[in-house]
Amino acid sequence: MIRAVYPGTFDPLTNGHFDIIERSLKFVDELIIAPTNNLSKNIKLPADDRVKIIKKATEHFEKVRVKPFRGLLVDFMKEEEATFIIRGLRAISDFEYEMQMAIINTKLYDDYEVIFLMPKENNSFLSSSVVREIAKLGGDLTKLVPAKIIDIVVEKYS
Ligand code: COA
Repeated sequence: MIRAVYPGTFDPLTNGHFDIIERSLKFVDELIIAPTNNLSKNIKLPADDRVKIIKKATEHFEKVRVKPFRGLLVDFMKEEEATFIIRGLRAISDFEYEMQMAIINTKLYDDYEVIFLMPKENNSFLSSSVVREIAKLGGDLTKLVPAKIIDIVVEKYS
């Protein structure tokens, strides 16, 4: 049984995240999508709204559960009895941060394993802040977020 956590800020979820979710589901038995609720992060939307958006985008996936967390990622993983996390590696610029996070988390949790997936090329330069800016300025989000959530993303971020 492979239970994996996909943590992030998801402020909001984008096609880049969605791509990673779809591909993870090919090899995990359960995927817990976990938006962080840590106050130290400069998050624009409350966790409840981010959860609502993620649930809407992923409601057709039986193996997905959405649960926000506060505090250390490794503590959340232990609570959920998960040993794997999934992270997207978009570009070399992500690598240093991801490596640091992986090494620190391994020191905090012996069983910790991270699986990196590369997003499809057309999502490589996508980020939540780009989506937020386009939503705010009234641009077209068709190619940036799943169709099901366009309306709610526009409503929450514009
Ligand atoms: N496609 C598109 N964009 C992606 C993406 C993908 N596959 N993966 C990440 N991104 C973007 C996000 O949209 C976000 O964009 P933004 O900066 O424009 O808003 C950016 O990359 C950051 O990614 P994200 O994964 O959301 O946040 P993070 O890298 O800061 O990590 C946690 C978030 C929750 C994993 C991390 O902060 C954490 O574990 N926190 C808990 C505290 C803890 O345990 N700390 C010790 C860890 S060392």
